Amino acid sequence: MTTARFEGRTVVVTGAASGIGSEIARLFFEEGARVLGADLDPTNVPAGVSAFRADVSLEVDVNSMIVAAIEEFGHIDILCNNAGIGSVHDVLGCTVDEWDRLFSVNVRGVFLGTKAALPSMLERGYGVIVNTASIAGMMGLRDRAAYCATKGAVISLTQQVAVQYAGTGVRCNCVCPGTVDSPWVGNLLAQADDPVVARERLVARQPLGRLGRPTEVAKAILYLASEDASFMTGSSLVIDGGMTVA
Ligand SMILES: NC(=O)c1ccc[n+]([C@@H]2O[C@H](COP(=O)([O-])OP(=O)(O)OC[C@H]3O[C@@H](n4cnc5c(N)ncnc54)[C@H](O)[C@@H]3O)[C@@H](O)[C@H]2O)c1
Repeated sequence: MTTARFEGRTVVVTGAASGIGSEIARLFFEEGARVLGADLDPTNVPAGVSAFRADVSLEVDVNSMIVAAIEEFGHIDILCNNAGIGSVHDVLGCTVDEWDRLFSVNVRGVFLGTKAALPSMLERGYGVIVNTASIAGMMGLRDRAAYCATKGAVISLTQQVAVQYAGTGVRCNCVCPGTVDSPWVGNLLAQADDPVVARERLVARQPLGRLGRPTEVAKAILYLASEDASFMTGSSLVIDGGMTVA
């Protein structure tokens, strides 16, 4: 009998009630881990996952999330800083409030989660952090000024944390998804003048001829969190159907 890959492991996932985060939490649970799933509204975290309400932009919430996970599981092996929000403006159209809101969730959220989980990981000499960045952090996408800037910052922080804690037993990597068919993209399309045409345009950018699936990103995240990726730290794993190389 083979043991489940994450049997005995403990995991915290943010943004676990929808899309990519929900798939991450579900797959970790399926593969034997004990999982705490945090979200602004955690009602819909997958079955078997402990639901926790947290706004990742707030230090008090993130600290409580990590304390709750340690109280429930004893320690944290894996942290997935996945929660994120979008913005569809160029620099001229982006208000200062929108810029700050994006940075507070997409960048401060990753910083706070990492800061709160690291002491317990360093104490035990084991920990894996996987951040959800985006190909938007590697290239300029039209009408995504704040979004591109935040995801570039997530990639940089991933690299810095990887180097800072190399040799301590803590690894830190990120994934860079392309366009993924999550509720987020559904909402974006619903706001377009013609959602069908807008979807066709997104698909047309993809060499593989379709959008990604949340589970395809989640599987890459589980790989980075697994011992199969034991020589990976500071990496940005691109999962984009070939979009960045076309
Ligand atoms: N869908 C894509 O095309 C795509 C592409 C590249 C990267 N990403 C990244 O993947 C991550 C997940 O996106 P998704 O497509 O699954 O989106 P989604 O909107 O389906 O899910 C995001 C979840 O995060 C939660 N969330 C938002 N703000 C939060 C906050 N302040 N605190 C706690 N939870 C919060 C939401 O409630 C939601 O449940 C994001 O970081 C996003 O930037 C998505």
